[in-house]
Order: sequence, then structure tokens, then C-alpha cells
Amino acid sequence: MSHPLEQLRDDAQREIAGASDEKALEAVRVRYLGRNGTISAWGEQMKTLGQEEKPIVGKLLNQVRNALTSALDQASEKFRAQKESETLAHIDISLPGTPAERGSLHPLTQMLERGIQIFRRMGFALADGPDIETEWHCFDALNTPADHPARNEQDTFYLPDGRLLRTHTSTVQIRTMQSAAPPIRVIAPGAAYRRDEVDATHSAQFHQIEGLYVDQSVSVADLKGTLEFFMRELFGADTAVRFRPHYFPFTEPSFEIDVKSKALKGGERWIEVAGSGMVHPAVFEEVNKARGDDAYDPEKWTGFAFGLGMDRLAMILFDIPDIRLFAQNDLRFLKQFA
Ligand code: PHE
Repeated sequence: MSHPLEQLRDDAQREIAGASDEKALEAVRVRYLGRNGTISAWGEQMKTLGQEEKPIVGKLLNQVRNALTSALDQASEKFRAQKESETLAHIDISLPGTPAERGSLHPLTQMLERGIQIFRRMGFALADGPDIETEWHCFDALNTPADHPARNEQDTFYLPDGRLLRTHTSTVQIRTMQSAAPPIRVIAPGAAYRRDEVDATHSAQFHQIEGLYVDQSVSVADLKGTLEFFMRELFGADTAVRFRPHYFPFTEPSFEIDVKSKALKGGERWIEVAGSGMVHPAVFEEVNKARGDDAYDPEKWTGFAFGLGMDRLAMILFDIPDIRLFAQNDLRFLKQFA
């Protein structure tokens, strides 16, 4: 005859096998193994047994408890696996996945990198300055008087504390000369800001590569040679470069630079791409004042500077009709430069 505990084990196993879901299974577990379950009751009853019976029943009780525990574990594992395969059944693994799209550099970034590369080969180092500037770095130090139209509130973004968004990268000329003595040969690529009416060729934010070369007996010929070489590297050997007299407060003489190249669409037309000139002695004097020394003695040092309009260069090089396209984040546009 079997022991009542064995009977109990067989009943429980039958119930476990018959449980239709996890909830039913849990009910069986509580009924047999729970704190007030049958097995626990047997544990209590053990105390009343005699010395001889105790070890035998105790052993049996352990076996039954272990058997039920593992039967319950197996059954619940079976339910878990079932649920998982049901979930998977709803996923069509033959569907194409979401492709991980590869990004590419923005056309302006590509343009800047090409420009930087060319100047690197001519020995220019990279310089940098903040987009948010003091009025002094943007205007006063660059010999631009208080009544100059560029300083008008209608033309420049001012911050409440009197600082401003730099209207050109020429600020980096000043910052570079403040922190290093001549000779200087740097370029400074970066953004500049103006309160222009936005249209196909004007944007409130645009990009420049500033250049500054200070050494002994630097001349306009050096300026011309440097920028002609740059334009021919960029647009091809048959590119024509024109220096048109102009006025900037911080250079004297000053020039605007136009290019024309058959390689370009509409290439038979002069296109303005840069401002440039010989560093004005007043700029050197102002830098000396700020430095508190005579490092940039205008009797000893001369220099040229230029500011290249990178958006314009990219527009003519890549034949882009509207400057606003650079900032619209339209993938149909951007993918053409991938
Ligand atoms: N900063 C001038 C501009 O943005 C360009 C320039 C740079 C002119 C350096 C002369 C020398 O229009």
C-alpha cells in the first residue's frame, strides 16, 4: 500500500499536468506548497510522529516536496516557451529590415574641408574664435568706428549684455594676434551672422574662411599669389581671378575678389567670393595696445588678410541655386552630396 504522501504527490502531479495556463499552475502551487498548503501541513504534523517514523516520513516528505517543485518549474517553463513562440509567430521574419542609413558630410563641411586642405599645403595653421563676440573684437579693434553702418542694430544681432554674434570671422585675426607674436600664418573657418533679409543668396548665418598672414615685407603680390593659387586649386587651372579695389576699415589697400571659370555653370560671369587687403596699421596699433607691448610694430611687420565666403564658393562649385537649402535639412538635397 502506498503512503498517503505518495498519493498526495500523484494527485498533485496530475493537477500540474492538467493545468491549462500559468494561473491554474500557480493555484496548484499555492494549494500544495504554499504557507497554508498541504505539504506545509505535513511538516507541522511531523512533530507529532514517533522517533522511528520521523526520519522515514521526513525523507519521504522531502522527496515529495522536491518532486513537486521541479514539476511546477518544468510546467511553468513550458508555458513561458509557448508564449514566446506565439509572440514570434506574429513576426514575419521574411520582411526586409529597416536599413541603417549611412550619413554623409554636409556640402558646406565638405567645402570647408577642401578649402582647409589647400591652405594647409601652403603652411597655414588653423585658428579659432567664439561665435559670440565682444563689440571690441568685432569692430573697434578692426578700425571700425562707432558710426559704421555694420554696427547698426538693424545689421547685427546684439545680446542683452552688449556682446554680439560676430558679423565676420575677422574677429579671429584679433584674437590670434593677441595671443601670439608674429610671424603669423593662420586660417579660421567658421560661422558669421548678419541681420540680412533672407533670400536665395542671403542667410542670417553663413560661413567664412578667414586668413591672416603677418611677416616682414609681405606685399599685395603675396596676397594675390596665395588667393589665385587657392582659386585654381578649387575651380581648375583655367580659373580667372580678379582683384577689384574696395574699402574695408581694417585693410588698406582693400580688394574684393571675383572668379570666373569655364568649368563652372554660368562660368563666363564674374562671381564675387572674398574680401581682402593689407592689414591696416591701425589694427596692429590697437592689438599692441591690448597686448601692452610692441609685438606688431607696423614699421617692422606687414600682413594680408582675407575672408572667403564659403557658402558662395560651395554654391558655385556644386551648382546650388539657393543658400537656404544648406539649412533646410532636406535629405533629397543632402543625399546628392553623399
Ligand atoms: N571681413 C570682411 C567681410 O566679411 C572680409 C575681409 C576679411 C576683408 C579680411 C578684408 C580682410 O566682408
